Amino acid sequence: MKIQKIFTREVSERLFLVHPPEPRPDALISSINDGIYVGKTRWLNVPVFWNYQKLINPHIAIVGITGSGKSYLVKTFLTRASLIWNSNAIILDWVGEYDKWVKQAGGKVIRLGEENLNLMDLAGLAPSERIKQIMSALEILLDLHNFPAEKYDIEEGLEDAYDKIKSPTLVDVASMLEKRGKRAAARLLKRFTTQGSDFFAKPSTLALEHLIDSGLVCIDLHSLPTEEMRSLAGLTILQFLKEKMRREQMKEEKGVRLFVVVDEAWKIASDERSDVITIVREGRKYNFALIVASQNPTDMHKTILSNVGTMFILRLVLREFRDYVRQSLNYSDYIDSEIAKFGVGDAALNMIFAKRSGGSHTFLLNKIDGEEPLFVYNLEADGMSVEKEREQFCNMLYELGLTDEQIGLVKNEFEKNDGTMDATEFVSILEKFGYSPSSVMSFLRQLEVDEKDIVEIFSLARRRKASKGMVDLSLREE
Ligand SMILES: Nc1ncnc2c1ncn2[C@@H]1O[C@H](COP(=O)(O)OP(=O)(O)O)[C@@H](O)[C@H]1O
Ligand SMILES: [Mg+2]
Repeated sequence: MKIQKIFTREVSERLFLVHPPEPRPDALISSINDGIYVGKTRWLNVPVFWNYQKLINPHIAIVGITGSGKSYLVKTFLTRASLIWNSNAIILDWVGEYDKWVKQAGGKVIRLGEENLNLMDLAGLAPSERIKQIMSALEILLDLHNFPAEKYDIEEGLEDAYDKIKSPTLVDVASMLEKRGKRAAARLLKRFTTQGSDFFAKPSTLALEHLIDSGLVCIDLHSLPTEEMRSLAGLTILQFLKEKMRREQMKEEKGVRLFVVVDEAWKIASDERSDVITIVREGRKYNFALIVASQNPTDMHKTILSNVGTMFILRLVLREFRDYVRQSLNYSDYIDSEIAKFGVGDAALNMIFAKRSGGSHTFLLNKIDGEEPLFVYNLEADGMSVEKEREQFCNMLYELGLTDEQIGLVKNEFEKNDGTMDATEFVSILEKFGYSPSSVMSFLRQLEVDEKDIVEIFSLARRRKASKGMVDLSLREE
């Protein structure tokens, strides 16, 4: 085994002298303002920049087992995109795993389940166009092709509702169908109109058009009750984004304006009729880049695997999964066996270059070279805990009026305890700096500490001060 390994290595090294198993460096290297750095190639240590202008399209697929580093890659990628291009991002989060990071990064989390999205909103489309989209979403979710009569009835019901009602909802359509005795069609729609599952049948509380330019947005779908609901939300939001971007003028902009991430969205990544596939197939013409990630590559339609400009293959163990990917990308046995052995963050990268001579390449990265995770400060008291990202916390202290030196002292206190500080201690420090109880209280409110906790923290701080004297902190006299 060992000998064989050495031998393979030797052979590949020798082969490599004649035919390096990596794209030419000039295809990979970009200026840091034109591309997103992802890591270095395994053989030549060439820094790899993702530069969509060199690729056939800006769309990206990521596969790898749970824990292989897919979400980490997405986060690193989006962080850098926002730094260099000011890109916006919308994450359709199936499992609720981006919430925390998005909040820490100063983004916005929207919980579908708490918000409503009227499926019949036109968002600038003509009713006939919107009906086509709704029908295509329902076809995927309700297998409507098996019910041709009901399909026809629903379509007619939608037309009627748009004709007769100003801002119709699915509830209107269902009751119109009901009245006309189209019971079977009405019953199909009822899945989306019964109380508790009617997020798509009520007036929208969500303004989709504002999300496109809102920086980092996570649409958390995991609190929707069923996979069907999550998929309907995913499909609807994609339809909307696609239309919106299509209609906007195609400015030759520097950088990607919007990244749309769909993570673990098997239903909308595997169905031929879904917009994920249309968007990837039609390539560059949408003004945004789609990132599709999944732990199971067979959930991704072949069209995605063979048409995305960029594909990251992280660790894949199952033979079946590896074969599925390999059929589309055609790389060597060697790369295939490396993929099975990858550690966290290791990746094979396939890029399809736009220049004819560039062609398609699959090569190995040393590792996805990630961002240092955001460091979070934790303020704790009996049963309470508030978190703030370090930079944000320090900015708030600065605004409160602390000097650099005072901020340094606070940071030390947090960091000697792995980012955590007792809230009473924090209060004592601020008081020692000369802040009045009322300004400390309003600072705690700003940190979103509950009112009852604030009272608790203050009385604890008082008691401590009385019994133990001042906090153990040495301060120079100013
Ligand atoms: N390239 C990397 N470098 C360092 N740590 C990584 C890297 N990729 C992932 N990790 C760490 O490994 C763990 C699992 O990664 P995650 O992205 O959540 O996996 P997945 O989304 O594939 O299930 C996380 O704790 C993450 O911080
Ligand atoms: Mg993940």
